[in-house]
Amino acid sequence: MTGEQKTAIASFLDLSADCLAGGYARPREPYRFEDDREPGDAGAGAAGTEAGEDSLEGIAAQVRSCRGCGLWGTRTNAVPGEGVSSPLVLVIGEGPGADEDSSGRPFVGKAGQLLDKMLGSIGLSRERNCFIANVVKCRPPENRDPLPGEAEACAPFLARQIRLLRPRLILCMGKVAANRLLGECNGLPGFREPEAIGRLRGRFYDYPVSPDLSIPLLATYHPSALLHNEDLKRPAWEDLKKLRAFLAETGGI
Ligand code: URA
Ligand code: SF4
Repeated sequence: MTGEQKTAIASFLDLSADCLAGGYARPREPYRFEDDREPGDAGAGAAGTEAGEDSLEGIAAQVRSCRGCGLWGTRTNAVPGEGVSSPLVLVIGEGPGADEDSSGRPFVGKAGQLLDKMLGSIGLSRERNCFIANVVKCRPPENRDPLPGEAEACAPFLARQIRLLRPRLILCMGKVAANRLLGECNGLPGFREPEAIGRLRGRFYDYPVSPDLSIPLLATYHPSALLHNEDLKRPAWEDLKKLRAFLAETGGI
């Protein structure tokens, strides 16, 4: 089979998978298939052997047994994340709080209920078209910010989730997620000089997934900040409207 034929089959299978998983055709890196060797060539059987397949379930299982940083010692449940496997939007928070730690699910406490309302106001939900994840998967004690070393240790899980999910847009909730991910946009790990969320929010950035693919990224206020400061609701709503317009322009919801 020629490389071109293999590419056609692979893209058909990928498109079918996207349709079955919710209907959004995710961007993909260019396929790189080689033509088969000549019949009779001894090495032909090994062609196409790929590096190990990653999966959301595999990541979740590894997260639940992870001891990659000190947070494993105080967690009740790790919180890998949840949502659809082919999301329009990947929402990234900072880390589990008490409710998330006891349930093993992201954003289920007060802030989570507000997050669901915010997403719902523009036609988004974790059941239909979003995936919800966090920078760190285990609860920092007393709800403190994750330490740089904790975020760094946990980063490969989020990076693998992003590569698998390929959302149309990444939405960072609050300062920690925005600084972490935007640090990577600049080619540097986050937490050099954390920038206030008020200065980062409301603009579109490009998050580089690989040399061939980047994903638009928008940051806004964390829902728990909105619970403490009513004045932030209006600018947060402006950000959500930008997100809604972006989704409408890029193929709808
Ligand atoms: N706050 C977060 O940042 N993440 C959660 O999952 C819950 C609260
Ligand atoms: Fe592992 Fe991340 Fe939990 Fe640390 S926060 S123990 S790196 S899953």
